[in-house]
Amino acid sequence: MPTYEQVFENNLAWLKEKKGRNQSFFENLAKEQRPDYLYIGCSDSRVTAEDLMGAGPGEVFVHRNIANLVNATDLNVMSVIEYAVRSLEVKHIIVCGHYNCVGVKAAMQPVDMGLLNPWLRNIRDVYRLHKEELNAIKNVPERYDRLVELNVQEQCINVIKLASVQQQYLKKGYPTVHGWVFDIRTGLLKDLKLDFVKLLKGIQEIYYLGD
Ligand code: CO
Repeated sequence: MPTYEQVFENNLAWLKEKKGRNQSFFENLAKEQRPDYLYIGCSDSRVTAEDLMGAGPGEVFVHRNIANLVNATDLNVMSVIEYAVRSLEVKHIIVCGHYNCVGVKAAMQPVDMGLLNPWLRNIRDVYRLHKEELNAIKNVPERYDRLVELNVQEQCINVIKLASVQQQYLKKGYPTVHGWVFDIRTGLLKDLKLDFVKLLKGIQEIYYLGD
């Protein structure tokens, strides 16, 4: 881990390397951002967004919070999605969870977590929605992995519930919403291959906000 002082030395080395490859790199970067991706992931220090995607500055609009939750009363994530969809016009929205997520693990245990309770309740709600499937998995680490995946799926559904996402998709044919899980044990990024159109249709029966 770099020391506090080394961070700034690293930064100088980084900008030199970028300018070495392309003299006008930062000039171009300063002009505007037109990312195709909105990435919503966990704050976990082991799960970097751009790094694991092989993406650079200007390519991914990023929001991270504990356990990659999309909650309609969270002004932060709601603003990020609204801006990404309506102004940046991103083509893909990704909710990326990860195995060994401490937030998800905490939600699996009925323990008082203080201020974190209302936040983790969102994951406990996912557990309740999928209780039958989860309780049928007797191996606890496997059940924990499955809850990570189901949490991603439910957060994707929460993204699709939004008026901005539905309206933009009807008008432009994008964004599409994807669920990913990063396997922290192997480094592999897994696409859960959620059926976006099917999810959208299911959502619109109840949550239609087309116009
Ligand atoms: Co996590």
